[in-house]
Amino acid sequence: MTEAQRPAGNSVDAGSGVQPSSRKGNVVPEPRVTTMFDSIAPVYDRMNTLMTAGLDGRWRRAAVRATQLRYGGTALDVACGTGKLTAALAGAVGPAGRVVGVDLSQAMLDVAAGACGRLPGVELRLGNALALPVEDGSFEAATIAFGLRNLSSFEDGFREMARAVRSGGRVVCLELSVPRPRFMGRFYRGVFRVMAPVVGALFRRGAAYSYLPHSLDGFPPAEEIAATMRRAGLRDVSFRRLALGAVALHVGTVA
Ligand SMILES: C[S@@+](CC[C@H](N)C(=O)[O-])C[C@H]1O[C@@H](n2cnc3c(N)ncnc32)[C@H](O)[C@@H]1O
Repeated sequence: MTEAQRPAGNSVDAGSGVQPSSRKGNVVPEPRVTTMFDSIAPVYDRMNTLMTAGLDGRWRRAAVRATQLRYGGTALDVACGTGKLTAALAGAVGPAGRVVGVDLSQAMLDVAAGACGRLPGVELRLGNALALPVEDGSFEAATIAFGLRNLSSFEDGFREMARAVRSGGRVVCLELSVPRPRFMGRFYRGVFRVMAPVVGALFRRGAAYSYLPHSLDGFPPAEEIAATMRRAGLRDVSFRRLALGAVALHVGTVA
């Protein structure tokens, strides 16, 4: 049994009965999102490590395990950014495998090219998660890490990932979430709202990093993300909460 399939405690069955009540997508226009990521690309990795106290690497490794990829496998990393998850996927499939990273920001891709562009089997493409520049069913798994929040339609994002993956393959989403107990959720939002711009200011990217906490406002809870994945056509959807619920790891199978 994989982590993603593990029942109660770590994983919640994303069954029926979830009534959507939050945003269906990001309301910030795509060109602004792209400009923002272009501007933070040179400092993104350092800021990420600082803001997650270095836990981000562990979460990405959990996402790789959730794909169930093996040596020689094929993966698509959507909104790949600076390529951290792309590189981890490449490590899982080895030189006999193939990993394609897609991102809207050329500056993020430029950083990724330095970090993992020369690894065997890795290819980086400029493209939109909502119109992926890949053939139908051409991968065994598709991932998105901390990218979903930025898409103008979460459901369309999952539908595109499902289109890119062959039947029986996996779609994996790693994303920030808001801890469940209300007081913890409030505390977390408060800390995030203050911390993100402060860390941004440290790196002279304060304005760009004020976008981050707002991207969590109205972002659907993990149960709704799971329901969205089901509406996008994925089956056997489940999720785990990580970091006391500050992060969620969702997995679905392509029908
Ligand atoms: C927070 S970063 C995450 C990067 C990387 N996946 C990681 O784990 O660190 C979000 C990324 O999503 C990209 N992005 C935002 N909207 C996108 C879209 N519509 N299509 C593709 N990439 C997008 C941004 O350019 C940025 O690189």
